Amino acid sequence: MVTELNHPLVEHKLAILRDEKTGTKKFRELIGELAMFLCYEAMRDAKLDEVKVKTPLEEMTTGMINEDKYAFVPILRAGLGMLDGVISVVPNAKIGHIGMYRDEETFEPVNYFFKVPKEIEKREVVLLDPMLATGGSACDAIELLKEKGVKKIKFLCIIAAPEGLEIVKKKHPDVEIFCTKIDRELNENKYICPGLGDAGDRIFGTK
Ligand code: PRP
Ligand code: URA
Repeated sequence: MVTELNHPLVEHKLAILRDEKTGTKKFRELIGELAMFLCYEAMRDAKLDEVKVKTPLEEMTTGMINEDKYAFVPILRAGLGMLDGVISVVPNAKIGHIGMYRDEETFEPVNYFFKVPKEIEKREVVLLDPMLATGGSACDAIELLKEKGVKKIKFLCIIAAPEGLEIVKKKHPDVEIFCTKIDRELNENKYICPGLGDAGDRIFGTK
């Protein structure tokens, strides 16, 4: 249930994103673009409702997605950087927010905010967070959503560590994970290597 995007354009954009010389503006743009590619892939199994459309030449039967059935939920802060990209392709999806930060000493996630659209249990939820490191934040966010009755969850991240992927797969085998790249490993500070550094700080220019 893990899909790693494998495409030269993704590799190209990732190379610029990872570069320590890349500034905040460019970094933010690239996160948005990569999130759009991830969303494109994650929506591959979307159901189409039959609709009739009249082209300038004739009437035809085709399909449309009921965007209202989807909710994008960024994990604050860094997940916010992915929101514009996914909303640009599914503009009518609902949006929720989960606030979570990783304690710098224990590396355990701390939840500080939770607000999701009404009837969330009836929607497919697409969780957004650029970094899946130990997997703690992802697992806690997934658990909070499941407690609210959500049945279908997809997790979109830019970079995943093998260690974190294993944990999320074990705890939540029903959750499909989409990443642009699976990197080598976590270091002693639980940062992904080679990675891109601190995603939140690079998106918001806080360091
Ligand atoms: C980062 C990242 C994830 C989490 C991943 O957030 O955006 O939410 O760490 O780590 P994990 O898989 O080990 O839980 P951070 O705590 O830096 O907060 P921020 O988004 O506010 O910068
Ligand atoms: N959070 C980040 O922003 N980067 C990492 O490498 C790990 C966690």
